Amino acid sequence: MAATNKTSALMARGCEFLGSEYAILCGAMSWVSERNLVSAISNAGGFGVIACGAMNPDLLDKEIAATRALTDKPFGVNLITMHPQLFDLIEVCAAHKVSHVVLAGGIPPKGSVEAIKASGAKVICFAPTLALGKKLLRSGADALVIEGMEAGGHIGPVSTSVLAQEILPALAGDHLVFVAGGIGRGEAMAGYLEMGAAGVQLGTRFACATESIAHPDFKKAFFRASARDAVASVQVDPRLPVIPVRALKNKGTEEFTAKQIEVARLLDAGEVDMGEAQLKIEHFWAGALRRAVIDGDVENGSIMAGQSVGMVSKEEPVTDIIAALMAESETALSNRAAA
Ligand SMILES: Cc1cc2nc3c(=O)[nH]c(=O)nc-3n(C[C@H](O)[C@H](O)[C@H](O)COP(=O)(O)O)c2cc1C
Repeated sequence: MAATNKTSALMARGCEFLGSEYAILCGAMSWVSERNLVSAISNAGGFGVIACGAMNPDLLDKEIAATRALTDKPFGVNLITMHPQLFDLIEVCAAHKVSHVVLAGGIPPKGSVEAIKASGAKVICFAPTLALGKKLLRSGADALVIEGMEAGGHIGPVSTSVLAQEILPALAGDHLVFVAGGIGRGEAMAGYLEMGAAGVQLGTRFACATESIAHPDFKKAFFRASARDAVASVQVDPRLPVIPVRALKNKGTEEFTAKQIEVARLLDAGEVDMGEAQLKIEHFWAGALRRAVIDGDVENGSIMAGQSVGMVSKEEPVTDIIAALMAESETALSNRAAA
């Protein structure tokens, strides 16, 4: 690999915290971030994170054990805060002495941060705003991820560049903040590191790595797509809330719009009550990510992808992706130093 001294210096705090060679996390991706991709990322010097998603404690137990069998490097586990068995999942992580637990999907419930820390693990939380970031740090979070709306999967309303400007100058001096969302190349990574980020988190760029078990048709959809194909889900009726998710446009996203119109009509006609109507919307995407990632149903499944998907054009081993990011970052930083 090319000399990466400047980048490595900027990543030093993040690397120390993660116990990895590079402060590059592969964000947890449900169905994609399992033993193969997670171990490949950590073996390549990055930091892999298992996506627990809707797994039950038994499945998580097996996934952690299987990942451990493939790598002796550190990796994390991402737990969704509203999982009904969150505390049992925390116990599974503790039993395996998982070093880092990422809490995603909302404000951590009372006692969860404490339970993770009691096991000796470090806690990483998502900070959607500066105020919440400060609150999470006060509540014991060891590090924060700020994720902009360019990202794939569930998203907030604010772009990475604005979140970075609001949050890094305020918190990155004294705390560890990782930046996610829309990072496809090392030059962007270098920019956030210069602004004080401890490291970065990428998902879309790694989803189609050679080691990813995603279905070949899922990967092909990524290779064909450009940034503008990765769209946020559209809410048609203010009465029917839609969870914002960024995914590639397909037949499923079109049918989702039609479904909302149909359900709104049923509501107007008094044929369903509000509760039923909202459930019909909520259930539309049930199991849809699995259908796309595992079954390769790229017509009806949910092909979650960030706007950086336009920079993903072929299957590459994780080591090559990380080497490219580090080299691009180093060139950018060296050019600035020389200017
Ligand atoms: C296919 C896919 C599935 C994802 N699933 C999850 C998830 O289960 N939990 C989570 O916290 N983030 C999830 N994410 C977000 C990633 O962890 C990561 O933060 C994001 O992809 C970073 O932005 P980028 O896509 O622009 O690189 C997912 C992203 C993708 C593309």
